[in-house]
Order: sequence, then C-alpha cells, then structure tokens
Amino acid sequence: MKATLYGLCAALALAVAPLAGASADTIKVGIIAPFSGPFSIYGKQFKEALEVFVKDHGTKAGSHEVEFIYKDSTGPNPDVTKQVTRELLIKDGVKYLGGYVFTPNALAVAPLVTQSQTPTVIFNAATSIITKKSPFFVRTSFTLPQVAGPMADWAITNGIKTVATAVTDYGPGIDAEKTFIKEFQAKGGKIVDQIRMPIKTTDFAPFLQRIKSDAPNALFVFIPAGPTAFSFTKAYSDNGLKAAGIQFLGTGDVDDETTLQALGDAAIGIKTSYSYSAAHKSALNDKLKAGLAKLHPDSDANFATVDAYDGAYVLYKMIAAAGTDGPAAVKSVLGMSWESARGPVSIDAHNRSITQNIYIREVAKDAQGKLENKEIATYKDVPDLGQASK
Ligand code: PHB
Repeated sequence: MKATLYGLCAALALAVAPLAGASADTIKVGIIAPFSGPFSIYGKQFKEALEVFVKDHGTKAGSHEVEFIYKDSTGPNPDVTKQVTRELLIKDGVKYLGGYVFTPNALAVAPLVTQSQTPTVIFNAATSIITKKSPFFVRTSFTLPQVAGPMADWAITNGIKTVATAVTDYGPGIDAEKTFIKEFQAKGGKIVDQIRMPIKTTDFAPFLQRIKSDAPNALFVFIPAGPTAFSFTKAYSDNGLKAAGIQFLGTGDVDDETTLQALGDAAIGIKTSYSYSAAHKSALNDKLKAGLAKLHPDSDANFATVDAYDGAYVLYKMIAAAGTDGPAAVKSVLGMSWESARGPVSIDAHNRSITQNIYIREVAKDAQGKLENKEIATYKDVPDLGQASK
C-alpha cells in the first residue's frame, strides 16, 4: 500500500513537473517604448536588439525562462507610459521592466516601480537625476553630463574658443547645456549665446540664423534623437552656418546611424560625443552588427541597439541571480563590469548608471563611400558626471 501510494505520488509529480517548469518559472519582462508615432524607430531598434540578444543567449536566464512583452508608450507621454506600465505589472504580472526612451516617462513611473519593487532597466532616458528617483532603476544608456563634459574638453583642447549652445528645453537638454558650459568655461572658453528650444520646435531656421549672427567658432547642440534632430542637423548647412565656418558640435543624438545617410555629404565634418558609434572597431561590435543584419537586413545598428542589447544582458544577470526578488536583483548587478559592443562598461554601484568610454566622432566617408561616425578620440571609463559615483 505504502509503495503504491509512493508510486502514485511520484507519477503525479512527474506529470506536473514539466508543466510547472514551463509556466510557473517563466519570468515576464515588460518593454516600454514608442512603437508608433514619430519616435517609433526606438521601439523598432529595441525590439530588434532583444531579438539578436535572444538569438545569442537563448531564452533562459539561469534556471528561468524569460518572456518579453512589448507595450507602446507612443512618444514623450508620461500618462500613457504610466498606464501601460501599470497594466504590465498588474494584468501581465511582469517582474522586470525595460525600455523608457524619454525622461518624463521614466520619471513618471519611478513611484510605481519603487512601490512594486520592480527592477527597471532604462534603455535610453538620459537625464542624470532619473536613477535618483527610484532605487530600482538601473541605466544602460548614457547621461547627457557624461557625453557633454568630454565634448567641451575636446573643443577647448582643439582650439575652439567661442561657442553658442542650443538645446531642447527639458531635462536632458538642460543637463547637456549646464555640463558643457561649466566644463568649457572652467577651461577658458567663452559662451556667446545660450538657446533653449521648445520640445515641439520643428522650424529651426530662426535659432540657426541667430547663431549665425553670433558668429562663434562652434555651436553645441542637444536634441533628442529622431526626426527633429535630423531637421536641425540638416538646417545647419541649409542656413549657411557650415559655409560661414561655424563648427557643429553635439551629442551623438543628432546624427545617429539610422538618419546619417539621409543627412548627406553636408554632414561631413560634424563632431559629436557619444557612448557608441556603429563604426566602433571591435570583434563584439562586428558580431552585433552581423547578428542584426542576419535577422533584419535593412536595419542599421545605432546607440538604441547597443543600449537595449546591454539592457537585456543586465536583465538576464539579475534574473539568473535573484529570480523574482527585486531588491536582490538590483544588488546583484551593482559594480558589475563586462565587455560590450561599445567597449568596456560597468554599472556604477552608487548611482546605478553605466560607466563607459565616451568617443568623440567625426562624420566621414568609410571605405565604401558611406557616411560614418568615425571615432577620433576616446575618453576612458567616464561615469555619469551629473551625480556622485563610486
Ligand atoms: C530623454 O528624454 O532622456 C532623451 C530622449 C532622446 C535622446 C536622449 C535623451 O536622444
């Protein structure tokens, strides 16, 4: 009798084991980004990068099966972002979050992810202060102080003495402006004009005409990557600033690889600072680009690709180490370092943002005659300069 009962239990256990393994131990990860509207390129780049990651690393993180669920934030829209994040947490039961392109969207979900103790990997939003707003935020992109500081240093050491700044008037733009000005002035540079452009601006001609009459050695610009950044960069040469000898300096948001070819030869000579260039020479970057080309032959790798790929790397590490224990998951990646397609990186144990090389890039033609962001200088292991780091 005993033996039979034991046998029955064992048989039952065997029968339910595969089921429990497949469903109960699947950890869902919600990915929030614009998949519609003018900024839908971000959603596309993120999703494709995660597909490449899954192809490279499989669907298991440690003993857990990972499932990504995508939701559309539609653009810079904190209300929609909050709503879809809530849906993911409550209806879909996600235990991790990733994505978030715009600063106001990330800030809007800080109380939600803190309350639910959900580790949230920011794939883009780049105002320094974001990671201070929730202990569950970890960032794999960059911050504007991190990229603007090196640009100012490079400018002053390369003979640029006067600059007019032009930034989009919200968090990341103000971070970029303040850091650039502080660094440039501290090293003896002069700021001749300081322009903040409303986020909805589409006609940049009046701002560019103003900068043209300021006649500085260079302009320094931040605009969130996407169609408006493209318009500004095009308007720089269309409005005669290039011909007037005013150099174009910016963060890499203004000439990312998904818009670079369309900017045309007028973009040659533009200098930007950023954490990634698709032209970065390394075996890992070649592998990332080849992986993307295999799955999506018409896509170009850009910063959003590598930021999401590395975001998935951090998510998998957290899931493998801590399963559904949110606080332990975050703790497990603090101070973690690894080799990325962009170069060596680590998660700062104090501010939870990524520390990485920052590259000064110049638009030039590659061997095939295509435009590229050619790396011309490297600032090594730069932390988020907007916050204390460890
Ligand atoms: C942001 O809102 O933080 C943001 C958006 C787009 C960028 C950079 C920063 O290219």
